[in-house]
Amino acid sequence: MVDLATYRPGFTATQLAARAAYLLRGNDLGAMTSAAPKLYPHMWSWDAAFVSVGLATLSVERAIMELDTLLSAQWSDGMIPHIVFANGVDGYFPGPARWECRELAAASPEHVDTSGIIQPAVHAIAVQRILDHAVRRGGHTRRAAQEFFDRRWPNLLLWHRWLAKYRDPTGSGLITIHHGWESGMDNSPRWDRAYANVIPGDLPEYERKDTGIVSDTSQRPSNLEYDRYLWLVEEMKSVRYDPVAMAEKMSFAVQDVFSSAIVAVSSDILAVLGEEHGKPRAEVREMQEYAERFRAGVASTADPETGAGRDRDVRTGEWSTVETIASFAPLLCGGLPSVEEQKLLELLDGPRFCGHPQLRFPVPPSTSPCSEDFKPREYWRGPVWPVTTWLLSWTFARRGWVGRAEFLRHEGLRQAADGTFAEYYEPFTGEALGSMQQSWTAAAVLDWLG
Ligand code: SER
Repeated sequence: MVDLATYRPGFTATQLAARAAYLLRGNDLGAMTSAAPKLYPHMWSWDAAFVSVGLATLSVERAIMELDTLLSAQWSDGMIPHIVFANGVDGYFPGPARWECRELAAASPEHVDTSGIIQPAVHAIAVQRILDHAVRRGGHTRRAAQEFFDRRWPNLLLWHRWLAKYRDPTGSGLITIHHGWESGMDNSPRWDRAYANVIPGDLPEYERKDTGIVSDTSQRPSNLEYDRYLWLVEEMKSVRYDPVAMAEKMSFAVQDVFSSAIVAVSSDILAVLGEEHGKPRAEVREMQEYAERFRAGVASTADPETGAGRDRDVRTGEWSTVETIASFAPLLCGGLPSVEEQKLLELLDGPRFCGHPQLRFPVPPSTSPCSEDFKPREYWRGPVWPVTTWLLSWTFARRGWVGRAEFLRHEGLRQAADGTFAEYYEPFTGEALGSMQQSWTAAAVLDWLG
């Protein structure tokens, strides 16, 4: 157990775990956990997966319910939407009336409101954690998790097929995104050049709600960024969210290296789980093929000097050059030649990232403090996101890098010992930023302490 008190005034590990559990209970809306009580009062796709990881430490059955809620909102073509709206809950923009998915999209579910875009496919990681906990608990819990896996295997298969078919139609091994929100890293400088080519046309009026909640607006994306976000939604609506038409129509189309690495990792996990649980050979093989394809795709983007993974603008063919946490995508899924991988690990440890002398905690910021695009308080332009620290630590453990995984866990917990469960932190001062009581931060802490 990490002795948090020796590092920083704050909560002990036991107190922190209790507070994290209490937070998730407080954000529980019944069959879904809101991503954050005020700023994000609905279910978000990748948040829900991370939240399930945390819930599984408390109740495997409740974690299963979380993923069941998400997967019940899967579109008939296989897409898992990035938001599942809670019934009767207001306070978030853009809400269902702006997305109009039920009205426009043939594949949208009828019983629930959703958005019409995706988020990174981390869901298999959550399934794996649920099964891990269920095996340890045994008995009825183990049977419930097995039943869940059997019941949801077709949904997961369909989801990965959808990603491969519609977001990598050329078989490049890279996932194309059509909105910064699809990366989960909304306003990362990774997307700045692509967004410069998104020219909002006749945009219906709107009023932001996020800046009414996070009153220091410098912590949130700008109004110009929001105009572009909303314009892309209009473009999608104009083709009724048809994924084939979107590939042609959208003014934003970027191959996202980080999302691609996550598909590789998740496909790997599903292949292993499918084999263990006796799924048809052809389906297991299909998952292995996706894992190989996306791992190779991620490796193909690597900067020859540094090994860093890079995004590529589909419309202009340009590679991104910004140093962000996505540079480390190849470390998540593997696939780089060992010399390049070593260089990339040195980049992670060195002064441009975790070894930067001014960092309060040596965990990777969303954008390198040495980058000219770095803004220490602004959302994905600089702050440290505990959930990404968790994702790196978990994937590193999976790759057998036990020391690295443990180091990130330790430092991530020291950062979270302030007990705010902030969405993100200022990297130099450690100030808690964005939404407090963010569900996935609590979930990361619970898994780390579990
Ligand atoms: N993260 C986005 C928001 O800030 C949506 O996915 O609303």
